[in-house]
Amino acid sequence: MFNIKNIAVLGAGAMGNGIAQVSAQAGYQVVMQDITEEALQKGMNTIKNSLSKLASKGKIAAEEVDVILSRISTTLSLEEAAKDADLVIEAIPEVLELKLETFKRLDEICKPEAIFGSNTSTLPITVLASATKRPQQVCGIHFMNPVPVMPGVELIRGRLTSDEVMDTAIKYVESIGRQACLAVDYAGFIVSRLLDVVQNEACKLVMEGNKPEEIDKAMKLCANWPIGPCALMDLVGLDIVEHGLRTLENDLGPAYKAAPLLRQMVRAGELGRKTGKGFYTYDK
Ligand code: CAA
Repeated sequence: MFNIKNIAVLGAGAMGNGIAQVSAQAGYQVVMQDITEEALQKGMNTIKNSLSKLASKGKIAAEEVDVILSRISTTLSLEEAAKDADLVIEAIPEVLELKLETFKRLDEICKPEAIFGSNTSTLPITVLASATKRPQQVCGIHFMNPVPVMPGVELIRGRLTSDEVMDTAIKYVESIGRQACLAVDYAGFIVSRLLDVVQNEACKLVMEGNKPEEIDKAMKLCANWPIGPCALMDLVGLDIVEHGLRTLENDLGPAYKAAPLLRQMVRAGELGRKTGKGFYTYDK
């Protein structure tokens, strides 16, 4: 079994900062890496706000906040973040070429026994693993948004991932107080495959004249969803949904083609909460 103490999280965005936070909460030493100081600062501010919220609700002790924060360091250097890592979790943008280049560099920088996890929501793990000389040590560790509150993590075994690495990934997920949901390695796995289809259909319903408020109300009251699909797209980002659908379409066929309205809103910059407007409007 691999021994995980030091974790490198690549990307300080919504997913990366959440992964850094929950790992530090569980006692791991975390280095969070991104390519601008601004991104790192924003990521750390989000972590501080989330921890304060948890402390104000008594979910963690107030004294714990500084201890947790002291376990997280930040850097702009991939080398510095990854050189001592036992586990690297990649949460960089969903651009295949960028991820392949990053995995190739990680393979050169990291200890031979280091495990690589990708937080990709749709890209097949076997493809990412092919950029390394250690495909048996690469798996998908797919967190859900918002990371600090969502109890499930999807774990994806690539075609060449070893049993020992999967067991270690399951132990890691349990150690941060989450439950692992095991998925097979085809584009979109379980969660994005299902959610992207429902969200795409919701876009078509809006195109046909349904109001986002009514679609969301129906799914909350009639299907017991915590929030409806339009509000969910605003939460995860319409660009992420469109990108997911493109990967599904490329790998699995034309049934997954993004609705014209979704493509139009993405082109108009209506990406949801992060741009202040999606199906609903938000204070930025
Ligand atoms: N940090 C700490 N606490 C947080 C938080 C954060 N970032 N975000 C929310 N919370 C807390 C709130 O403080 C609140 O706490 P209390 O219950 O103690 O009051 C609790 O979480 C619930 O939050 P809200 O009352 O603000 O709102 P809500 O009742 O709607 O719950 C939610 C929020 C848990 C996000 C809920 O809306 C939900 O489950 N939504 C669906 C989320 C989902 O489906 N995520 C998966 C998306 S797909 C994905 O992420 C994969 C991908 O690759 C795209």
